[in-house]
Amino acid sequence: MAFPPVQSKTVLVTGCSTGIGWATAHVLRAAGWQVFPTARKAADLEKLRAAGFTPVTLDIASGESVRAAAAGTLQLTGGKLGALVNNAGYGQPGALEDLSRAALREQFETNVVGLQDLTNQFIPLFRQQGWGRIINVSSVVGRLPLPLMGAYCASKYALEALSDCLRLELRGSGVAVSIVEPGPIKTDFRPNAAAAGWKHLADLKHSRFAGYYRRNAEEPHRPKTRDRFELPPEAVSEKILHAMVADNPRTRYPVTLVAWAGAALRRVAPDALMDQLLSHRVAD
Ligand SMILES: NC(=O)c1ccc[n+]([C@@H]2O[C@H](COP(=O)([O-])OP(=O)(O)OC[C@H]3O[C@@H](n4cnc5c(N)ncnc54)[C@H](OP(=O)(O)O)[C@@H]3O)[C@@H](O)[C@H]2O)c1
Repeated sequence: MAFPPVQSKTVLVTGCSTGIGWATAHVLRAAGWQVFPTARKAADLEKLRAAGFTPVTLDIASGESVRAAAAGTLQLTGGKLGALVNNAGYGQPGALEDLSRAALREQFETNVVGLQDLTNQFIPLFRQQGWGRIINVSSVVGRLPLPLMGAYCASKYALEALSDCLRLELRGSGVAVSIVEPGPIKTDFRPNAAAAGWKHLADLKHSRFAGYYRRNAEEPHRPKTRDRFELPPEAVSEKILHAMVADNPRTRYPVTLVAWAGAALRRVAPDALMDQLLSHRVAD
């Protein structure tokens, strides 16, 4: 479906302290966009300033912070916005049976509730403008279940549903919604997720998965087998840029061979086969 081009090359990108967000801020700026990157820690805001950006403070898990960030952004852009890139997120590790209500809540507050809350701050403006692009950074695990990362998978499955419903609800408004689905990308996502998530798993010595947790807590670096499939974060940024400028932005952009193969497999493989392929992680 064709969409009107945006009339203000301004973009808010969440989660730019590191990784995909940091790379995307640079790629979009190089493509001529005025980029407003978000971060939540003072040192990261300073790092973005030093790189020549005007950053916006955002802790997406806080409703108050979301509203302040949206208002602050529109002040900076003069009341218009071309695109919103929802990238901030983390992955809560752990078997579902070991996750507390608080762990599940925290995961969804950041990856789902906060993301939609931020998007909702801009939808009235996007509708009024008659143009705008919303890009949600999901994951291959938004389509494929990854045991021992169930909370994270659930948050990305939820994001896929939110994005699909939003696209339908915005039909005819001129506002496009795209989902970017990275596979393994060379960032500090895993150690960052471990730092954010293991705190909820500290007292689980009696868990069926205690050995797995111990090994991962001791070695949060990536297993070597992932490396050959990994792409740099700019590979994701290029897809985000496409979704922002194309007349016909795609609804989904898988990134990496793993993401393409995973999505294709999910479409054709029966559950029993998928279970066999994915269950090695819980075999221990
Ligand atoms: N790397 C991969 O292999 C991969 C694969 C598929 C999907 N993804 C998705 O890509 C996105 C970016 O991940 P990444 O690889 O770039 O990892 P990353 O380097 O860990 O970056 C995550 C970003 O999200 C921010 N963030 C986390 N919680 C936040 C909160 N409550 N409020 C505001 N910002 C918050 C982090 O800020 P702080 O530094 O303040 O924590 C950081 O800027 C995520 O949505 C992730 O799920 C990554």
